[in-house]
Amino acid sequence: MSGKVIKIKPKVLIKMVEERVTGENIAGEFLMPPSYIGSLTLLESAMLLAFIKVIRPIKVFEFGTFMGHTSVFLARNIDENGVVYTLDIPCEDVDRKSFDSKAEEVDHMLRLQSVEEQAKCIEKERDEIKAKIVRLLCNSLTFSTSELTKQCGLIFVDGGHETEIIKSDTQKALEMLSEGGVLVWHDYNSDVFTDVTEFVDAYSVEHSIFHIAHTNMAFMWPGMEPELLALHDVNQ
Ligand SMILES: C[S@@+](CC[C@H](N)C(=O)[O-])C[C@H]1O[C@@H](n2cnc3c(N)ncnc32)[C@H](O)[C@@H]1O
Repeated sequence: MSGKVIKIKPKVLIKMVEERVTGENIAGEFLMPPSYIGSLTLLESAMLLAFIKVIRPIKVFEFGTFMGHTSVFLARNIDENGVVYTLDIPCEDVDRKSFDSKAEEVDHMLRLQSVEEQAKCIEKERDEIKAKIVRLLCNSLTFSTSELTKQCGLIFVDGGHETEIIKSDTQKALEMLSEGGVLVWHDYNSDVFTDVTEFVDAYSVEHSIFHIAHTNMAFMWPGMEPELLALHDVNQ
């Protein structure tokens, strides 16, 4: 199915921040991008920062903690009273022995690394940042969103990359998304995780979805489409 994902320049989001944050330089706390496969680039982190600056979310949710690098980035940049919920799979659910694709093989490797290394970036963080992070050890397929219904202003979907998981994580993200909040998918247009692109493209037939050029991020931001499209048009 061919979708209608709209590709925007990163500066569309940067302009949105500039229009809101005036009279001071726009700053954030960045970490060196790690060498692990599947980690965010500096530009992708800057795009998450732009969402944070516009939305000022109190609760943020991340599917896929891995080493916790992005969890730490989010925790360092949200408001003092903010909380980052980050979910990853427990050891007992990692049992796959054979793979049908490169993507499944890489996902398995990421799960193994995740359970072996236990969010080591979070462990290394200073106490006040650690205190803003809530780790959830749960298979996202069985995770219940009931305690976070409509409460999260920024949701980052970056867990398992198989269609069944992306579909379920997206559904759960929508249940948790607060008014004015944004749902961001990672690995859109990835060479390896092609299911993400297929899912998002198909989803865009009935939902407004944007892809940020030079990144593997796509997002859905209900209610913000007119402003995004207006900035997109003048920044072509
Ligand atoms: C690409 S990594 C996440 C990277 C992380 N968000 C970052 O930016 O550093 C994907 C993570 O999703 C986790 N994962 C895969 N399938 C999952 C599932 N069904 N439930 C929860 N976590 C899952 C893996 O264990 C892995 O740690």
